[in-house]
Amino acid sequence: MAVMLFFTVLMILVLTSCKHEPIVLPKINTETGNNNVNQQSTCDPDSAYFQSQVLPILISNCAKSGCHNVQDHEEGVILNNYANVMATADVDPGRPGNSDLYDVITENDIDKRMPPAPANRLSDAQIDIIFKWIDQGAQNNTCNDICDTSNVTFSGSIFPLIQSNCIGCHTGSTAGGQVDLSSYQNISIVANNGKLLASVNHDIGVNPMPKGGNKLPACRIDQIRIWIQNGAQNN
Ligand code: HEC
Repeated sequence: MAVMLFFTVLMILVLTSCKHEPIVLPKINTETGNNNVNQQSTCDPDSAYFQSQVLPILISNCAKSGCHNVQDHEEGVILNNYANVMATADVDPGRPGNSDLYDVITENDIDKRMPPAPANRLSDAQIDIIFKWIDQGAQNNTCNDICDTSNVTFSGSIFPLIQSNCIGCHTGSTAGGQVDLSSYQNISIVANNGKLLASVNHDIGVNPMPKGGNKLPACRIDQIRIWIQNGAQNN
């Protein structure tokens, strides 16, 4: 009798625990190139993510040659990866106002602000991401944003990608390698001469981009490839 009761209770436990199991959606990995389309975002709009959002801002606006890359480490600050940011940029998790990293990007005195002139102040959206990331504990977190290779356009896919990963180093008179990526006109030049795809694909003979940062997710590289194959249009 006791054994029967035991099994009945066990069955109930198993059944009810199954019922409460969350529905697990297939995890699509944009890093490996398998299942190379990410139609479901794992990015919570209320959260900020270091690897997906903060690091691209730091790489293209701060970890440049002559500034906060590994070689030059101005003021001892290196902003090329999580470990170095946490070790050198005086980030106080949970307290943006007490963090130098946040202080310098919001500084009103133009002589103290980062990035310094002639670079522009970071956009409000970029500053907001860095605030939120520190406020939420400055974790080494990541998420996968929607990446669709079936409907690739310049305005919807390519330009936003270049704006968040490249433009900090590729605009104005100081543009890296004299490659300006701030307009369709100029982006189409490197799209058509093969350098855009070769650089993000890390092909031999071309400088790998984004310089000093992680390789773009495979799905993003596919979007660039598809856009170029379809004629690199201003769509
Ligand atoms: C941290 C600064 C930085 C970032 C971020 C960056 N670049 Fe560059 N880029 C450079 C510099 C500097 C050069 C000149 C070559 C060199 O020093 O590697 C360059 C060169 C290039 C070239 C010419 C390559 C060649 O060998 O002729 C292309 C194309 C390019 N970048 C595209 C991009 C794209 C696309 C992105 C974003 C996905 C990007 N870059 C992000 C700094 C950067």
